[in-house]
Amino acid sequence: MRRKLLATLLGGLLGVSVCVVVAAPAQASGTLQQHAAARGKFFGNAVDSGELTDAPYRAIVASEFGQLTPGNAMKWDAIEPQPGQFNYARGDEIVNLARANGQSVRGHTLLWHSQTPGWVQNLDGAAMRAAMQNHITNVVGHYRGQLYAWDVVNEPLNEDGTLRSSFWLQRLGPGYIAEAFRAARAADPNVKLYINDYNTDGFGAKSDGMFALVQSLLQQGVPIDGVGFQSHLAVQYGFPSGMQQNLQRFANLGLDVAITELDVRMPLPADSNKIATQNTYYRNVTSACLAVTRCVGITVWGFTDRYSWIPGAFPGEGSAHLSDVNLQRKPAYTAVHDALAGGTGDTTPPTQPGTPAASAVTSSSLTLNWAASTDNVAVTGYEVYRAPGASGGTFTRVGTPTTNSFADTGLSAASTYRYYVRARDAVPNFSANSGTVSVTTLPGGGGGSCRVVYSASNWGGANGFTASVTITNTGSSAVNGWTLRFAFTAGQRVTDGWSASWSQPSGSANVSATNLSWNAVIAPGASVGIGFNGSHTGSNPAPAGFTLNNAVCS
Ligand code: XIL
Repeated sequence: MRRKLLATLLGGLLGVSVCVVVAAPAQASGTLQQHAAARGKFFGNAVDSGELTDAPYRAIVASEFGQLTPGNAMKWDAIEPQPGQFNYARGDEIVNLARANGQSVRGHTLLWHSQTPGWVQNLDGAAMRAAMQNHITNVVGHYRGQLYAWDVVNEPLNEDGTLRSSFWLQRLGPGYIAEAFRAARAADPNVKLYINDYNTDGFGAKSDGMFALVQSLLQQGVPIDGVGFQSHLAVQYGFPSGMQQNLQRFANLGLDVAITELDVRMPLPADSNKIATQNTYYRNVTSACLAVTRCVGITVWGFTDRYSWIPGAFPGEGSAHLSDVNLQRKPAYTAVHDALAGGTGDTTPPTQPGTPAASAVTSSSLTLNWAASTDNVAVTGYEVYRAPGASGGTFTRVGTPTTNSFADTGLSAASTYRYYVRARDAVPNFSANSGTVSVTTLPGGGGGSCRVVYSASNWGGANGFTASVTITNTGSSAVNGWTLRFAFTAGQRVTDGWSASWSQPSGSANVSATNLSWNAVIAPGASVGIGFNGSHTGSNPAPAGFTLNNAVCS
């Protein structure tokens, strides 16, 4: 306990997180399903047959959720592996389990470009059309009256919003989607028929493509009831832009919407920042659905890291679910639970912030300022997103300032970056993204030139030492904002530091020291002194080299 306290205290002092303090589970006043039902929604989970022999897991499936989706058991390769040979055992097992538990079932999925046998993919157009009709008629007919919904067509879109060039599209033409819905309606007049995709959760080209597709289906009189938003999210990417508003525009077409496959993965190992972002994402998805009357419910794509599709599909990533491998609830559970249980009731996001303007641009840093957002309660901060290059590239979050200004450092010389910002309130609700600004840093040669003098003195009789580091700007232009990096070579650790924000991830030899506000500027020829206390075992050699803003120092 004391070690943990010390570590937490040190973490605070150093401005870094050295231990992950996991919040206690919520005062669980009710299950996720109970709270969701009180808000007029369901809360569901995807299950696979193999897992159901795990009794503790099965007990949570029964108690916590009001809806089940078979993760794989109703896909074409599971249900019709050979032409005309239908195998309903695994699907029936889940339908029967749901019935015993009083849960509804979302059928998943009739047509997909994946997990469809080769014999289907190799058919010519006429034969494929007949196979599609036969499959839908049989499968939907088998489950007629027993399911809440079917994902009729899964993942039909490319990232740019155009139709995915699947074998369905190639052989049957774009009309295959309408044909599939009509066949499904003919086989079950009451089940809700959904189209389902990923990366359509927020505004963007793909979501616009889905919107246009659904509008056109409606205009053609195609029997479609709902749009599924998979919501496979990841902490290293921004939260989907305007998710609530995006769901609402589909609802405004007179359709149901549902979150169908929610998970929030992270690059491993987990740390407290990633966990905090994960909690926020889970809470925001929940809040977005709650705020849209026609959002009928949320399904998580697995609730425990014990059975997760993420490590297989995204190597190096994981920890994506509400419970850990021991089925212990994580803070994400609390976030969802508390959002369902009422939260603050504030669903109004801050107004859109102004497009950032760049100033104080050097070869490695710049400052952004933007017109502030307003909120019905209060703006609690902003998120700054950056993508490399003048186009393309992925936006990642680089800062979370509490005011409408942000200094970005560690940039490459003569390089273009794009930035946008968004505001948040305490819930948090997120504003729409600002416009994007494109900025090019100055040519190098100035800010990168540096000299570092390092000296360390060991404490007599103990494994401690004190080091001082003097950084000199040997270039001809001022450095404005800096990060010094070096690596220990003999297992030393920084225990506390001064005159910079020091960080050394646990288990890593790499140390970084970032300027404080008062020593951000190093004029040409000027020096700043910083230092730290460290620990060592055995010898205590000086680091082999130093970089300042990623440029090597002499
Ligand atoms: C995944 C399953 O969870 C995995 O077990 C399987 O190996 C691959 O498919 N979008 C979907 C789901 O619509 O069907 C996918 O399920 C996950 C992505």
